[in-house]
Amino acid sequence: MNVPTLAAIAGKLVADDKGLLAMDESNPTCNKRFAKLGIPQTEEARRSYREWIVTTPGLADSISGVILYDETTRQKRGDATPLIDAIADAGIIPGIKVDTGAKDLAGHSGEKVTEGLDGLRDRLQEYFQMGARFAKWRAVITLGNGIPSRGCIEANAHALARYASLCQEAGLVPIVEPEVLMEGTHTLKLCCEVTEEVLTTVFDHLYTQRVMPEGLILKPNMILPGLACPVQAGIDEVADATVRCLLRAVPAAVPGIVFLSGGQSAELASSRLNAMNVRFKSSLPWALSFSFARAIQQPALELWQGKESHVTAAQHALAHRALCNRAARRGEYDATMEKADTASKSVAG
Ligand code: G3H
Repeated sequence: MNVPTLAAIAGKLVADDKGLLAMDESNPTCNKRFAKLGIPQTEEARRSYREWIVTTPGLADSISGVILYDETTRQKRGDATPLIDAIADAGIIPGIKVDTGAKDLAGHSGEKVTEGLDGLRDRLQEYFQMGARFAKWRAVITLGNGIPSRGCIEANAHALARYASLCQEAGLVPIVEPEVLMEGTHTLKLCCEVTEEVLTTVFDHLYTQRVMPEGLILKPNMILPGLACPVQAGIDEVADATVRCLLRAVPAAVPGIVFLSGGQSAELASSRLNAMNVRFKSSLPWALSFSFARAIQQPALELWQGKESHVTAAQHALAHRALCNRAARRGEYDATMEKADTASKSVAG
């Protein structure tokens, strides 16, 4: 394992106030999002979507790395350039989702464990050869009646650590993503307690598996009340609870923390990230950044609707969201940025 090289890649992923664009939806998830908008659920539609995303003018001004799904790593632009090369040529680091999804955890009703360790060493070598320099593995933790169980937290933390160790061996920076889901009636306090337990368990397993914290990026949820909780939290309350939880659980040697959006609206995700950086940036050991999928892509996807004539407006909307999140990293995002962006609100043709 080359620790300085891994640390340099991890550093680049969170440098210059940029963040990550997750565009690694599996085919079924991508198809589901297309179906809602009447977009054909075909390989060509997915290829075309990913092509216009990665060729968005100015994307590299705000985005340091993109996370791809396997299908995309094997697809080409209209001019036959592999998409993964087009990404690297634009100055963006290509990454790859390598888990094979969350499956029911035996003996634990209502809970999941993420799979994908079988054959992972060989797959990582192939992705490295293709040009990927980081990877992602997502574990999901559900809150509900009597869950999460210790068994679920331990099983997912162990798999994350095995994955991360294999990544570092292969020269890829692991994005370690243990997601405590927003679905449910739980309070902000419970989300905080569970997230703290999950993160401390994950870092315990990472240490046991000899994963170097300098060469990984953590991708957690923000601390939020459940979507169905009657008491919702203000932006500063979310920022304070999230940073407090992370300070307790994440080693200072980790270079960066990049949040998932988890189903928050694009504007709320930017506002909450902004509040964390306004209130705490100068005193934190790690960068606080973003690795959003829906909170960057969704407004653009809704504009695109699968129509070639809408691509320019959709690209504008995508670049705008990326820029808002870069501003949030600096603590300079505010609602006027949304009002000023009139070009994204309309489509040509
Ligand atoms: O694994 C999930 C994605 O990387 C993040 O997606 O921002 O839509 O939650 P999201």
